[in-house]
Amino acid sequence: MKKKILFVCLGNICRSPSAEAVFKGLVRNKGVHDKFEIDSAGTYGYHEGELADRRMQSHAVKRGYNLTSISRPFKPGSDWDRFDYIIAMDDSNLRDLKEMARYGDDLKKLFKMTDFSKNFNYNEVPDPYYGGEQGFELVLDLLEDAGEGFYEFLEKG
Ligand code: 4NP
Repeated sequence: MKKKILFVCLGNICRSPSAEAVFKGLVRNKGVHDKFEIDSAGTYGYHEGELADRRMQSHAVKRGYNLTSISRPFKPGSDWDRFDYIIAMDDSNLRDLKEMARYGDDLKKLFKMTDFSKNFNYNEVPDPYYGGEQGFELVLDLLEDAGEGFYEFLEKG
């Protein structure tokens, strides 16, 4: 059975589409992409239908990631059932997702990306939207690092 993973941030135009692309790249490099279904969503639908933020895209492409996903809001009615792991980027996303949980079992699927960090000591993937260019690089650094940790966590499970 495929492992189904949903990465979630606020707008689904910076952090979670990057998490989706970074983790897709990671499983492709390991030759196990057919064992995964990977998607992303936002807790807030304002950017629905948009491609990823251009600044995020330009930083991602320099590392070989094409951000092709289209922003969509998290859908509590179907996403809790469809995915095995729902990975929030920060504490605010985590709180919003908890409020959208229907049952206690939904909460068992919920994690924060930085729970899986290996080399970085951040407890959130910071929102880069209103900051400078280095914020986008930090997002990618954190996602590459925590992506490895998340993969190891899945391998153990
Ligand atoms: P994301 O970044 O949650 O990483 O996609 C943001 C995108 C848009 C906004 C905030 C954060 N916004 O306020 O529109």
